[in-house]
Amino acid sequence: MKKAAIIIPTYNEAGNIKKLVETIFSISKSVSKWEIHVVIVDSDSPDKTADEVTELLKIHQNLHLIHSKKEGLGKAYVHGFTEVMNSLNPYVFFEMDADLSHNPKDIPLFLEKIEKGADFVIGSRYIKGGSIPSNWGLHRKIFSVCGNLIVRLGFMRLNVTDWTNGFRAIKSWVVKESLDHIKNYSGYVFQIAFLDFAYNKKAIIREIPINFIDRTEGESKIDSVQYISQMLLYVFTHSSFIKFVITGLLGFVVDFGFAFLFINLFHIIKTTANMLSAEIAIVFNFFINNFWSFKEKKIVGGVFGYLKKFVMFNLVSSGSILIQVGGLALLLNLFGDKLISLGVITLSSWIIYKVLIIAFVIIPYSYVLYNKVIWKK
Ligand code: GDD
Ligand code: MN
Repeated sequence: MKKAAIIIPTYNEAGNIKKLVETIFSISKSVSKWEIHVVIVDSDSPDKTADEVTELLKIHQNLHLIHSKKEGLGKAYVHGFTEVMNSLNPYVFFEMDADLSHNPKDIPLFLEKIEKGADFVIGSRYIKGGSIPSNWGLHRKIFSVCGNLIVRLGFMRLNVTDWTNGFRAIKSWVVKESLDHIKNYSGYVFQIAFLDFAYNKKAIIREIPINFIDRTEGESKIDSVQYISQMLLYVFTHSSFIKFVITGLLGFVVDFGFAFLFINLFHIIKTTANMLSAEIAIVFNFFINNFWSFKEKKIVGGVFGYLKKFVMFNLVSSGSILIQVGGLALLLNLFGDKLISLGVITLSSWIIYKVLIIAFVIIPYSYVLYNKVIWKK
């Protein structure tokens, strides 16, 4: 029988833990294919959660208690994962909250997905059938929805709908490989760091809908301001999409800078100067993208590999020039070139057309082709 270890971090959950543990073990009787263990990682809760657990240890053979310092949710999980890896060595780990927000009846559904081949199963509140509590205050609803949107859009990974919820089942190999990365994130942001790392490792990610139930005992320990700022910082420093956009903007500066230099300093004719500067910007973008934006998928195959990809990169870039020229011609034809007043400034409409084409056509076009053709895994 394969083992599953449900890791439950607790801080002041004395009013919840007994009910949760009993419910999990009663449900685990119905999953005959799995040997289910429950591991409580308590951070010296002042409300004596650990004493409640110690009582339960007498009744439940598959219940375990780990004491951990109060260093945040991420640290508690990493501590639990590491110890359990060495003792129980389960096939799959669960992450679960202690406050009954996560319904134990969903556990068999997570295991079914694992049996079907998933490496990382997420309990999602944002797919059909899932939900957040209707009695949550407006600010908490906005916080949760926006937090997830920031991560989804920041990473441009729209297929994963819930990045923050802590109800998950993860195969042991994914946990093992991720430990070195996630140990750097002590707070709630570790949830995002973990999923991002698993995504990069090409773990098979699946979601099941869950109904998040508001806690009735105790209170939430989340520090929203800290969480949001750490979330933004993480996405900003780890998103290849954001790096790709920044690289594109820098390329624009390089193009203009060199064109200016060639024309004004070296007196090269304008068309030649612009061709040269554009190619310099292409070379610049190619290398910055390779060693920064898409560094997890750097080009392989030596000089020949680079040459081949460089030619392709030039083709994709020529494509974006064609799209820009064509798009601009089309929009000018359809709507004409007039002056558009935007409050304080007045702009020639072609500038607005160009910005729109770049934002809504060129960026998606290049990002998709870079990922599918140039920096594919
Ligand atoms: N050991 C330990 N140490 N446990 C902790 C700590 C800590 O420092 N901080 C929180 N916990 C435990 C809580 O006791 C609870 O079991 C679980 O972690 C979740 O904490 P809550 O305080 O209930 O957080 P929440 O309901 O606001 O957070 C949920 O939603 C977040 C955002 O969607 C969780 O699912 C989070 O994982 C999720 O990021
Ligand atoms: Mn909670």
